[in-house]
Amino acid sequence: MQRCDVLIIGSGLAATTLALSLPDRFRVIMITKKSPTESSSHWAQGGIAAVHSGEDSLASHVQDTLTAGAGLCNEDTVRRVVEEAPQAIGWLIWQGVPFDREGNDYHLGREGGHSHRRIFHVADATGAAVQDTLLKRLAAAPNVQVLPWHIAIDLITGHKLGVAEDSVHGAYVLDTARARVETIAAGHTVLATGGAGKAFLYTTNPDTATGDGIAMAWRAGCRVANLEFIQFHPTCLYHPKAKSFLITEAMRGEGAVLRLPEGTRFMPEHDERAELAPRDIVARAIDFEMKKRGLDCVYLDITHLPARQIISHFPTIHARCKELGIDITTEWIPVAPAAHYTCGGVVVDEHGRTELDHLYAIGEVSFTGLHGANRLASNSLLECLVYGRAAAADIAQAAPAPVRDLPPWDESRVTDADEEIVIAHNWHELRRFMWDYVGIVRTSKRLERAAHRINLLAEEIHDYYSNFRVTNDLLELRNLVLTAELIVRCAQARHESRGLHFSRDYPELLPEARDTVLEPSAG
Ligand code: FAD
Ligand code: SIN
Repeated sequence: MQRCDVLIIGSGLAATTLALSLPDRFRVIMITKKSPTESSSHWAQGGIAAVHSGEDSLASHVQDTLTAGAGLCNEDTVRRVVEEAPQAIGWLIWQGVPFDREGNDYHLGREGGHSHRRIFHVADATGAAVQDTLLKRLAAAPNVQVLPWHIAIDLITGHKLGVAEDSVHGAYVLDTARARVETIAAGHTVLATGGAGKAFLYTTNPDTATGDGIAMAWRAGCRVANLEFIQFHPTCLYHPKAKSFLITEAMRGEGAVLRLPEGTRFMPEHDERAELAPRDIVARAIDFEMKKRGLDCVYLDITHLPARQIISHFPTIHARCKELGIDITTEWIPVAPAAHYTCGGVVVDEHGRTELDHLYAIGEVSFTGLHGANRLASNSLLECLVYGRAAAADIAQAAPAPVRDLPPWDESRVTDADEEIVIAHNWHELRRFMWDYVGIVRTSKRLERAAHRINLLAEEIHDYYSNFRVTNDLLELRNLVLTAELIVRCAQARHESRGLHFSRDYPELLPEARDTVLEPSAG
């Protein structure tokens, strides 16, 4: 058994911010299921929103966030996060992040739903620049041990230990390189596991985004909320050889327009803000045009800018498209919407505390009330920073939490799996029907169909999990099926269309905006 003061599950921006913000007296173990650089954070392109220009104001950033959130944001949360944003950016600059500059100041990008330029970025690879800087700092931190290729299986709760406490004391973790389950005992445990984009066939997310933290927290007894609000990014590259490659919204911020194959620009017909409308509107408009005309994709055209400017602002996208035979300085880019962001998650307070003692959830896994029914672009990395720092401050000021002796993982009743093909098949089936039935446009019938199939899959996986040794793929599938169930339950509970949740059976907006909160059964 390993012991630490703080166990951090994940290595994205929420995790790295927390680890670097804790005082060095805390012994920290950070586990991550692949290499530390595999995360949505590392793939982030557009940047981080924070008010900086004299023409902008905190009130305007607050208002843009509330407008995108379609009446469902928690205003106190929004205000606090927006107010802390400039300081959080200052912290990153102090850590050494080389944000792009223009003359004597920072270059600020613009994205959909933002009324001002306020996006700090490093060309079109902001996440990689931020994470490379922070992971390098962590490698030099003597109090932090990073364990790659370690996937958390489940949290160890007070209930499992037979103590009558709603608390968490560490986790069982599969070391995938050695195929061995370890027990990690911790004073505090932090879920920083990201979202669940992999529940859908088409996604901008990396393979790591399988809803593990949401599923583990739910099994441990936490409430989850607003999981029906899955954000579909309007512009994922559509190419047979490119899996999950995002074309940043910052391109539309620099004037790129969306076109049908024969060249017609269609966004002005859907919204007066055209290509800079919030994402839910742009994604739905593309979906509408694709279905109406039987198209596989539409096109993003940035050729109005001089080639030199395109290459300097978007070097990563330029290079990737070039590899695939598309010269974005002269050709349009084929794009289609894809699942991008999980707005709901594990219910937490302003410190990132869940309702279980000693368990925190930060970043995309959490539900803070910031995003409401639709997240404003570039507010997610910001949320990771603000809550990573808040959770660290809360842990630092709390009385030391006891690190308990924990029972080892029991493998006495399982054997090696006989038919791994079942896992691969179920993975594909789940992602396909989630895309078809729980995608951009929903109906009650489609949600019912999805719920039915999820029940069948859940039974099969439960059986498999109870009889066979755990593997990375089995654990991810188990979590993905449970998260899919929670997404569908939330969607079924919302009898209106709001933000990212659009139902043909309930096309109207209800007068009162309410969160969808699911309560786990005890235990
Ligand atoms: P992640 O960065 O996803 O990290 C989760 C970590 O947890 C990973 O290391 C993963 O391996 C690990 N993990 C998961 N489960 C387990 C487990 N069971 N055991 C151990 N480890 C586990 N947002 C913005 O604000 N601005 C942007 O420009 C932007 N661009 C984006 C571009 C892309 C392509 C994508 C996919 C997202 C983008 N987003 C952007 C959203 C943003 O990147 C994410 O919401 C944010 O990075 C989430 O950070 P996180 O730390 O919560 O999770
Ligand atoms: C993008 O660069 O388009 C993604 C920004 C975000 O998800 O906030």
